[in-house]
Amino acid sequence: MPNPLQQIDFGLPSDSGGKDIGIFLPMANGGWMLSSNKPAIDGSYGLNREIALLAEDMGLDFIMAMAKWKGFGGITEHWKYALDSQMLMAALAEATSKVKVWATVHTLLQNPAVTAKMIATLDHISGGRAGLNIVTGAYKDEFDQMGAWRTDLDHDQRYDFAHEWIQAIKRLWVEESVSMDGRYFTLKDCESFPKPVQKPRPFLVCAGASKTGMQFTLEETDAIFLSGANDAAVAKNSRMAKAMAADAGKRMRTYIMVNLVMAETEQKAHAFADQIRAGFDEGALRGMLRAYGMLDAEIGKENDFIKNARSGFMTTHVIGSPQTVSERCAALVEECDLDGLMLIFPDYLKDMPVFAAEILPKLRALKSPIATLEPAHAG
Ligand SMILES: Cc1cc2nc3c(=O)[nH]c(=O)nc-3n(C[C@H](O)[C@H](O)[C@H](O)COP(=O)(O)O)c2cc1C
Repeated sequence: MPNPLQQIDFGLPSDSGGKDIGIFLPMANGGWMLSSNKPAIDGSYGLNREIALLAEDMGLDFIMAMAKWKGFGGITEHWKYALDSQMLMAALAEATSKVKVWATVHTLLQNPAVTAKMIATLDHISGGRAGLNIVTGAYKDEFDQMGAWRTDLDHDQRYDFAHEWIQAIKRLWVEESVSMDGRYFTLKDCESFPKPVQKPRPFLVCAGASKTGMQFTLEETDAIFLSGANDAAVAKNSRMAKAMAADAGKRMRTYIMVNLVMAETEQKAHAFADQIRAGFDEGALRGMLRAYGMLDAEIGKENDFIKNARSGFMTTHVIGSPQTVSERCAALVEECDLDGLMLIFPDYLKDMPVFAAEILPKLRALKSPIATLEPAHAG
């Protein structure tokens, strides 16, 4: 009989083989489409609050806000107006009572002792629903503008930095006081009270896509947001993540984010997608690539990443009638062996009720065989 894999239970469907379904909140203007021809998404608090309440009513499992510090420009001024992730989730924690509230923090920008306290505070406000999405920083521009880009750290070293950062936080969440003299941080008899409500700690997630990023995510967190140029690549990454985690005796939840582009009929959905593509914002794409640290000369060369972005959709997307989208979502979850989906919609308030009525029940019926799992209840 295989050894049981360890996991912490967080009151999520995936604890017992179900699928975690959540919302990627549009807390920055424009959502996830680089287009001037789409339903307006202003990224306002009011909109995000309405979406959070709707998610709660629908019985969804989590809402998550990214962290963004500079927009991409272009005619749409994409992501110029972005609310702060942690403050937003604190307010939405108060507005809701069941849905999990996951905030994003950039490791380079926030001291671990500050983060330990802020996420513990979010856990208290929400009554034990807090989660933390750890981001090491991919967009150089965002950090450069505030003098916070570390030229002494390359991509992989930023994950080394993140290891020490999250180790400090995990200790601060359970120990009376922490002293450490690390490569990046020094804590001297450092105290953090109150401890989080969740024991041993709040939920952790990361979207490390590189080998180093994935390794970090598997070692330190409870779930990974996968990337992949197509379904086959996502499926491969999902299986690899689970196998690598299992080798370490741990169970890993695998998620993807997906934009559901729906209309009553197939034809209308594709016409809607074409309309979004027709308004493609080339300037915003260039801004996004420059923020990644790419040079204009490189932007001229069309690689897969750029070709994808040129479609107007910034992420994996599924286009069709609710019936088609439902079948595609279920197939994605099953074929890629996923534990959850983080949903994006072109028009959240219009699309979410359709999703609740016509797609969610099908996803709720999906189960993974996890008979060999035993909750570890340990960090
Ligand atoms: C679902 C998801 C959410 C992310 N959220 C953020 C974010 O809020 N801020 C950010 O700068 N990067 C964000 N990223 C980028 C990742 O943190 C990461 O840098 C990227 O996936 C590349 O992986 P790598 O760091 O291993 O190269 C996100 C990526 C995904 C897939």
